[in-house]
Amino acid sequence: MRIDIMTLFPEAVAASLKISILGRAEKKGILDIRCVQIRDYTDNRQQQVDDYPYGGGWGCVMMAQPLKSCLDAICADAGEQKRRVVYLSPQGKTFDQACARRLAADYDHLVLVCGHYEGVDERFIEECVDEELSLGDFVLTGGEIAAMAVADAVCRLVPGVLSDEECFTGESHWDGLLEYPQYTRPDVWEGRTVPEVLRGGNDAEIRRWRRKKMLERTMDKRPELFERFVPGEADAALIAEIKKDRSRLPLTKSVTCRPVKPEDREAVELLFRQGRNYLRKHRVDQWSENYPLWEDVLGDMERGEGFVMTHGEDVAAYFCLSALPEPVYAGLTDGKWMRDGAYRVIHRCAVGAEYRGTGMADRMFAAAEELTRAMGIDDLRTDTHRHNEPMKALLKRRGFQYRGNVRYDDVGEGRDPRRQAFEKVLR
Ligand SMILES: C[S@@+](CC[C@H](N)C(=O)[O-])C[C@H]1O[C@@H](n2cnc3c(N)ncnc32)[C@H](O)[C@@H]1O
Repeated sequence: MRIDIMTLFPEAVAASLKISILGRAEKKGILDIRCVQIRDYTDNRQQQVDDYPYGGGWGCVMMAQPLKSCLDAICADAGEQKRRVVYLSPQGKTFDQACARRLAADYDHLVLVCGHYEGVDERFIEECVDEELSLGDFVLTGGEIAAMAVADAVCRLVPGVLSDEECFTGESHWDGLLEYPQYTRPDVWEGRTVPEVLRGGNDAEIRRWRRKKMLERTMDKRPELFERFVPGEADAALIAEIKKDRSRLPLTKSVTCRPVKPEDREAVELLFRQGRNYLRKHRVDQWSENYPLWEDVLGDMERGEGFVMTHGEDVAAYFCLSALPEPVYAGLTDGKWMRDGAYRVIHRCAVGAEYRGTGMADRMFAAAEELTRAMGIDDLRTDTHRHNEPMKALLKRRGFQYRGNVRYDDVGEGRDPRRQAFEKVLR
């Protein structure tokens, strides 16, 4: 596979593509990556490559002539090839693994054109470009980072670049799933152990465990990918198994949401204890011995903000849906809230140990969303510890978006005060 990257910054591009795995493949003659200086193909003495835009406006536009002369020289040098000329552009189709596979399989020669400044003269695109590819819906200063990403993703699929096809066929996005979790030595790190099955040496069991994790991860981390995934028979059986694992106690009785009552004390305190144990077991430093307590629930109750989820007569979960603006949310860093107006906050949510994996947490969030909507509010917020993976997965599933970080400086000495903040705009 030959790749020519047309750029105004060939040294910068070469520096990162000619090292490590790709560098070694090039030495073996499997890849031929060339970074070509567009400026060398100007037909003016000043080596000018850009000019002012017709119609006025900010910045400069790259001229068609140097680009076309540069492309012609590359094509003449490479000769007859199955060639694709790609312009990296924020207006292109979003690049993905399927696209990388197509480019690696269908072509021997890729020419990647990097724009800069305000972009390139449209007539060059119309005349010479086969397709436009984007790295995502954001604007980069130049096409170089995008070209490097495309070249890297394509090159590693070229036979012989990686030691074995298995290196990429089991990876994320190959067949629509995310990869299973990876571990290396030591066996125990920060109290977290490597799953037993991976240390057992039974290949069939390991393969099964990994496939199940791939399905599970895609379900939790990228539900939209999972929806598009078409499982074969073996995967369908694993999916059924995952669903069964997750619904240890089927919700056979009616599930309702109602305001918490004083007589719920024992049940709610049990939920908090179970929540604390669960967080401790998962080494999430979120709830202390002093929070949350029944006293907090009494406050919630007074304001009409405390709710329980019931399964039949059973109190299965607790949450507070507060109208009080959360002071720490005003100090959000590394991001921005989507809305400025009134919002509700979910605090102190706890699901009973026997209701984990039954869909009760989803029902609780659905109830909180419904209550918020009924109040005429469309902005729902919450926060959680950055290591609280189950909560983060739940928030993602419910369509909450990560908005930045907040700090609770009153959590007590030696405790982690940082929390990730999430928001959902209710439609
Ligand atoms: C500042 S951008 C020009 C953006 C252009 N004015 C527009 O609004 O569509 C300069 C160059 O960066 C590259 N570029 C910017 N964002 C990109 C993205 N998301 N994916 C691929 N290339 C991108 C393109 O090559 C583009 O010509």
